[in-house]
Amino acid sequence: MEPRPGAAFADLNKEAAKDAFMEVVDLRRSVRAYTPTKVSEEDLEMILESARWAPSGENAQPWKFIVVRDEKNKEFLSMISKRGSGRRFTGEFLSKQMQKRFETLQDEEKRRRAFAKLTSGEVSAFVSQSDVIVIITGRKEVWDLPFDTSAAIEHILLAVTAAGLGACWLVAPCIDIRDEIKLNEYFGIPEDYKTISIISIGEPAGRYPNARPRNKLSDIVYSEKYGDAYYKEEE
Ligand SMILES: Cc1cc2nc3c(=O)[nH]c(=O)nc-3n(C[C@H](O)[C@H](O)[C@H](O)COP(=O)(O)O)c2cc1C
Repeated sequence: MEPRPGAAFADLNKEAAKDAFMEVVDLRRSVRAYTPTKVSEEDLEMILESARWAPSGENAQPWKFIVVRDEKNKEFLSMISKRGSGRRFTGEFLSKQMQKRFETLQDEEKRRRAFAKLTSGEVSAFVSQSDVIVIITGRKEVWDLPFDTSAAIEHILLAVTAAGLGACWLVAPCIDIRDEIKLNEYFGIPEDYKTISIISIGEPAGRYPNARPRNKLSDIVYSEKYGDAYYKEEE
């Protein structure tokens, strides 16, 4: 895919493009259950191509992407993701952040089960189910590495959705530096690279996830100074 020349951009059907774009944005979810169906090479290439065209500070393009399809390697990523999530959520439980997050959940038994699932790390162990896992790693020396790779990752998530597939962005295997070192060693990632995240990609299985709640524009967009709502909430 080469960038469109300017003249072609002028021909863009804006209404159709806006509709198609917002449809993809609306449809994107973190998908955590997958069928065994293979992701085609054509779709995978389109997805990775979208990452290649992501913006980066000074156009540094500090990223490398490792496509993981081998079962043993996916199992390793699943194990290390489970461990990372377990540590993070145990930390949140011990610091009472988790209890605060779930304070509206009144049912004691449901709370207990949610805490047990989160602190076990089980929530991030699903990745081996997906047909493909992409590891996103990049040059440590690049100033904007986390921003650059995040831009590439979001391109991937949207491209996956446009291809009718599902994906989940996971930071779980790289939260803890000890896990990141193990992951880097396992996949032969050089020392001057930092692994930022992994993305599971596959055909969604079962019920497509509901959209998770989002804050309203009237709560998050300000006019000229912090706190003055740009969008007034309708009466
Ligand atoms: C930086 C980042 C890290 C994330 N890490 C994980 C993760 O380790 N495990 C996981 O299951 N989901 C992870 N997610 C997915 C979020 O939980 C999800 O995006 C959020 O709950 C909103 O749901 P949605 O993506 O379906 O809209 C991550 C998302 C982002 C942006």
